[in-house]
Amino acid sequence: MSLDKKNSINNILEESRIFPPSKKFAENSNIRSQKEFLSLKKQALNNPTKFWESFAKSEIDWFEPFQTVLDSDNAPFFKWFKEGKINITYNCLDRHIKKGLGAKTALIWEGEPGDSKKYTYEELLKEVCKAANALKSIGVKKGDLVCIYMPMIPEAMFAMLACARIGAPHSVVFGGFSSEALKDRLIDGNARFVITADGGFRKDKVIELKQAVDAAIESGADKVVEKVVVVQRTKKNISMVDDRDLWWHELLKDQKDQCEPEVMNSEDRLFILYTSGSTGKPKGVVHTIGGYNLWSHLTFKWIFDLKDDDIYWCTADVGWITGHSYIVYGPLSNGATTLMYEGVPRPSNLGAFWEIVQKYKVSIFYTAPTAIRAFMKSGREIPDKYNLESLRLLGTVGEPINPEAWIWYKDVIGKNKCPIVDTWWQTETGGVMISPLPGVVATKPGSATFPLPGIEVEIVDKNGDKVEENDGGYLIIKKPWPGMMRTIHGNSERYLESYWEYISFKGEKNVYFAGDGARIDEDGYIWIMGRVDDVISVSGHRLGTMEIESALVSHKSVAESAVVGKKDDLKGEVIVAFVSLEKDVNGSSELVEDLKKHVVHEIGIIAKPEKIIISDSLPKTRSGKIMRRILRSLAAGEEISGDISTLEDSSVLEKLKELS
Ligand code: WT7
Repeated sequence: MSLDKKNSINNILEESRIFPPSKKFAENSNIRSQKEFLSLKKQALNNPTKFWESFAKSEIDWFEPFQTVLDSDNAPFFKWFKEGKINITYNCLDRHIKKGLGAKTALIWEGEPGDSKKYTYEELLKEVCKAANALKSIGVKKGDLVCIYMPMIPEAMFAMLACARIGAPHSVVFGGFSSEALKDRLIDGNARFVITADGGFRKDKVIELKQAVDAAIESGADKVVEKVVVVQRTKKNISMVDDRDLWWHELLKDQKDQCEPEVMNSEDRLFILYTSGSTGKPKGVVHTIGGYNLWSHLTFKWIFDLKDDDIYWCTADVGWITGHSYIVYGPLSNGATTLMYEGVPRPSNLGAFWEIVQKYKVSIFYTAPTAIRAFMKSGREIPDKYNLESLRLLGTVGEPINPEAWIWYKDVIGKNKCPIVDTWWQTETGGVMISPLPGVVATKPGSATFPLPGIEVEIVDKNGDKVEENDGGYLIIKKPWPGMMRTIHGNSERYLESYWEYISFKGEKNVYFAGDGARIDEDGYIWIMGRVDDVISVSGHRLGTMEIESALVSHKSVAESAVVGKKDDLKGEVIVAFVSLEKDVNGSSELVEDLKKHVVHEIGIIAKPEKIIISDSLPKTRSGKIMRRILRSLAAGEEISGDISTLEDSSVLEKLKELS
């Protein structure tokens, strides 16, 4: 995307109103005065070490204390709280029970077909311990990577926490990824164990997870995977492989419901989570225990203004970082009641979300702009049928929210009494970085407002120079923070290149580049403008154009491909692919369908191109580089502007215009 334009997405609706929190909300919020907020910021600025030290001590329990808050010796491979001994499940479960909260509901789960369950903190701990003992019984040891490929059922949470209990890092792979994508992730992480289900219910369909695991293993992951544990969910017939596959319920049946938490080092791995980048295959983002525990805990507490009786619901999937930090670890570490829903809204059931809010009296609701836009499109009559009085705070995440959707959310869902927290962050940041604190910050629709205390951001140009007010530039983070990623699994070079060496700085070192463009307005509000690299966001799902191109090129008929994002009212962006075919292959609508299917097979349904344009040639520079800028304009149906003098053959443009 270009940075010289002002943020177009934020200008869809001229909306200059500012929304301070209501008096009632502000008076009751945990951080309630500007003074308190500014004082936190000041403390963090003046003495970051002391700032993080005091929160790490007051918010997190350690088996043995840390001595070093931040070790920068090998920067940007930072280490946090390095001597500390910890287990995140102790902080998420045991400590609340010790304080007498054992009977509090930890998890409310609503199944897609209408079944539901609740677990208290005590019950959750028992489930986690049984699962932990079961994992041990099949040979999972501290340090072994366990892949979790599951639907949104309680066992997904049990599995994650069971891994953390015994010190085995998890790698959760979103259930919407294909067997090919799963295979790549299994092999890259060297995952010896997989926990999956016989299927999952999604949008009136059953997703066949176990079949995908079988296919991934058959097509190459057999060199790493030893055991597969299968949760029974759909009761559909699946085949079980002797000596490799085990039923979860049989394995857990006779396990003890007690399991001491493994004493872990602060910097031991908690999980790997794969995310898309601009080049190459998805990268395994590594998070470690101590820093991540503190950051997911503290951000949850600050941003969602937690109260004892809150019912909190984040609609994400545990296969994404949002699910990790704000369905599982953040809420549980704070002793909150967290709701998990197996389904996603679909045309046949657009009231499902609001029915759940009404049924459980949800008070804090966190979702994605793409969902809000879908609700908006289907009309306010649907949410208006439900009692949404219990809601007191609303959040959004994943992509910029257009002011129109923001206002609708505030009005129709929040009845104009709930503040909205627009939270900017990434898989790599572990937790939220930029967001209003709901009791303090006056919000502007479409702006994520200000960085949290302890987070220092700036908007710069490619040379690292600060840009002028309201000018677009690259969003950078100037100081390390506890929840930051530690590296890319197996590829520390890529960690350095992607995040720390992209922008050339004069003098300043160890500055983190997020991959996003942004501007800061005259009041200091931050407006995120979207990715500046070749990463696109479809319904808030992050995909690298290169991943999709590789998938297309792996098809026997495709010679070359270039993928771009096109703005979409509902999904934010959709995928448009330009492909040229191998000699002697003719384009046809069947081939286009086949190519779409092929991409779904290689990556998953989220990567399905909206449009595929077949052309003899693609616009290239004389040095052979595809000029994506031109393709983006073509896909958007815009005039091609800017310099095209480097184009090797300008007649390509005319042909492409006809085809697009
Ligand atoms: C990218 C990170 C963080 C959890 C969900 C996505 C975009 C995220 C916002 C927001 C504008 C946002 C950015 C970021 N993004 N939140 N509030 N406003 N853009 O995690 O898959 O790692 O994607 O999502 O472009 O870089 P992710």
